[in-house]
Amino acid sequence: MKKKIVISTTNRNKKREIEKLLNDMDLEVLALSDLKMHIPHVIEDGKTFRQNAIKKALTFSRYINETILADDSGLMVEALGGKPGIRSSRFARAKATDKENNAKLLQLMKNVPHGKRQATFACVIAIAKNGALLGTSEGLCRGTIGFELKGKSGFGYDPIFTPKGYKHTFAEFKPSFKNRISHRAEALKKAKLIIQKYL
Ligand code: IMP
Repeated sequence: MKKKIVISTTNRNKKREIEKLLNDMDLEVLALSDLKMHIPHVIEDGKTFRQNAIKKALTFSRYINETILADDSGLMVEALGGKPGIRSSRFARAKATDKENNAKLLQLMKNVPHGKRQATFACVIAIAKNGALLGTSEGLCRGTIGFELKGKSGFGYDPIFTPKGYKHTFAEFKPSFKNRISHRAEALKKAKLIIQKYL
């Protein structure tokens, strides 16, 4: 029987990316929504991506008798002192849409010149089982913020983020290409070593 891992994200796009990135492992990948049970809501009140990822992994691992993989991620924009950071998904308001968050970011950045628009995506993964933390990993992806939305694929800030060394936004790339160079890809590559060790 295949070993199981439960990924804690409720964001459909993140879930899809994580599933694809794990598909070379001999694992049954489940999402919280696949489990027919009541799962507590975790308030993401940490001050860092790492604190939030650990809180989610540990909390869910106390309710679910499987290995849990939780991630927390976001975008840090230099000209905005690192914002939106851990507030990336709710930058414009609580439960904001991607469109609203991108519009707010572009508005705040409208007078920031080329050359001063550096930003970094970060992803931290925490893996836990039965209330014990097995390990954490981190991935970063550096790039710049554009002046308008470009591309239709991906999610979140993908249409305004161009990774360093490229001319197109994440939303203009094929998902398989984003999955080679993204912050989530880097974090998962390291997380696989933790999974291999414990599962
Ligand atoms: P989380 O679900 O609390 O980790 O929030 C992550 C938020 O950061 C998402 O809702 C997006 O706004 C943003 N984000 C994280 N990773 C990505 C990515 O790969 N592309 C675009 N936006 C991302």
